[in-house]
Amino acid sequence: MRKAYGISGLLLGMILFGLWLRFPHAEQVMHHGLEVKITADLSDCIVCHDGMVGPTVSICTVDCKFTSPHSILKEYPPFGKEQEYAPADKLAAKGIILQNHKVTCVSCHNLKNPQKYHLVMENNGSALCYACHIK
Ligand code: HEC
Ligand code: HEC
Ligand code: HEC
Repeated sequence: MRKAYGISGLLLGMILFGLWLRFPHAEQVMHHGLEVKITADLSDCIVCHDGMVGPTVSICTVDCKFTSPHSILKEYPPFGKEQEYAPADKLAAKGIILQNHKVTCVSCHNLKNPQKYHLVMENNGSALCYACHIK
């Protein structure tokens, strides 16, 4: 009896695993004809956006100009500048995701948004920028 259960359990497990492999996972999304998994890790984006497959991104970590929207791997909020930034616990409600308290690609991009640039929110009047920068 117990053995039979064990085998059917194993079979069920294999079937479920097969289905899991067969269908796109919950975090996967079709992105310009490619299946992309979305985690908060920027390497998941850089793997393509290094200029080989997707458009390159100028990643700004040190010299951040206003013409570059890409400031990543920055501690949020920056130490000593807390009053200039929206509280971190208010960001999730706006769709902004931090990774280990740092700004990453998915802080500004949501690949599930089919609109141009796949932003987490409209950036009319720099709304996205002001979602974090309150001063
Ligand atoms: C499997 C490769 C691949 C991965 C992984 C990938 N992208 Fe892309 N991405 C592309 C391609 C291809 C395009 C379209 C390029 C084009 O049309 O010129 C694109 C376009 C974009 C665009 C521009 C869309 C537009 O409207 O102009 C954004 C923004 C973007 N990707 C963000 C991301 C982010 C953020 C991640 C990580 C979460 C990511 N991508 C992961 C391949 C990828
Ligand atoms: C602080 C917000 C922010 C972060 C962080 C960010 N982006 Fe963007 N990204 C934008 C905005 C806004 C645009 C729209 C284009 C513009 O305004 O220049 C954009 C545009 C893009 C584009 C299209 C560029 C083009 O010229 O067609 C790609 C690709 C892209 N981002 C990928 C990434 C990747 C990959 C990362 C992580 C390494 C990232 N972004 C991090 C805000 C951000
Ligand atoms: C997810 C939150 C977030 C969003 C959204 C965001 N920023 Fe930032 N931004 C930061 C953080 C954190 C820093 C790093 C500040 C530091 O280290 O002092 C920064 C730095 C900057 C800097 C460099 C100046 C400085 O103080 O170092 C500029 C310029 C800038 N952001 C412009 C923008 C623009 C333009 C947008 C909209 C496209 C934008 N930001 C959206 C979080 C954000």
